[in-house]
Amino acid sequence: MRVNARNGLLVLLVCLAGVSVSTIAAEKVAAKPPAVKVDPEIGRQINGVCAACHGDSGQGGKKGEYPRLAGQHMEYLAEQLHQFKDRNRHNIPMFPYTLERELPDEDIVHISAYLSAIKLDTEFPVFKDTDDALTRLLAVDKVLNIPRSEGDVEAGAKLYKEQCSGSCHGKTGMGKRNVPMLAGQYTSYLKRQIDRFTKGERIHDKDVKDISKETLNQLKPEEIRDILAYLTTLDD
Ligand code: HEC
Repeated sequence: MRVNARNGLLVLLVCLAGVSVSTIAAEKVAAKPPAVKVDPEIGRQINGVCAACHGDSGQGGKKGEYPRLAGQHMEYLAEQLHQFKDRNRHNIPMFPYTLERELPDEDIVHISAYLSAIKLDTEFPVFKDTDDALTRLLAVDKVLNIPRSEGDVEAGAKLYKEQCSGSCHGKTGMGKRNVPMLAGQYTSYLKRQIDRFTKGERIHDKDVKDISKETLNQLKPEEIRDILAYLTTLDD
């Protein structure tokens, strides 16, 4: 083709259009979160910071002031970290640890995978005579055994089955994907979250738009107490 002034301009326009389309396509690809290959070593390093509150093995502490994270579902952990980061879930102690500078999105993947892979013992270890007091204390601290809380366990079991297990938290309180595992979580922590959910400070089920229709808002305080009592039996 002979390029004269007219079709030269056409060629130029087509080229420019081509360039801009491919630039947009590249931007779209770049806007996607990077695919992260989980690295347990990076997860372990990040956990050094988290351990100050949640414990070396993500076992939580101070009787539920710091929730247990070990063995919790990866998807749930990651979602909660994003919620803190995006300021949709508010907590003063967690706030500085989820700033972009401290916890970039890639690190959320590493730490969530690392914590979810930790398995805690449910029975107390048998110690050797040579084990010192500190060894014993540290080992006992990592045993997952939530003390019984007050309430009617049988009534709680029935309510749990009707209201909570179904397609969500599961028969044994293990949850799945972004539905948290409740078995083995501190009672005081669960109670604190239930209070936040019922007040609308945290969203329990994003599909329910009217908070008064929320499952947790339909339950009486003594029913919640019984469900919590039942949950403490699930890690025995
Ligand atoms: C200064 C103490 C402190 C540090 C350090 C800390 N957290 Fe927390 N974290 C908390 C407290 C307190 C809560 C409970 C928040 C609430 O009551 O809603 C919490 C809650 C969480 C939750 C929500 C758990 C759930 O079941 O919903 C996740 C996930 C979490 N922290 C992950 C981390 C990770 C990962 C790190 C390290 C990068 C970390 N935290 C560091 C204090 C801390």
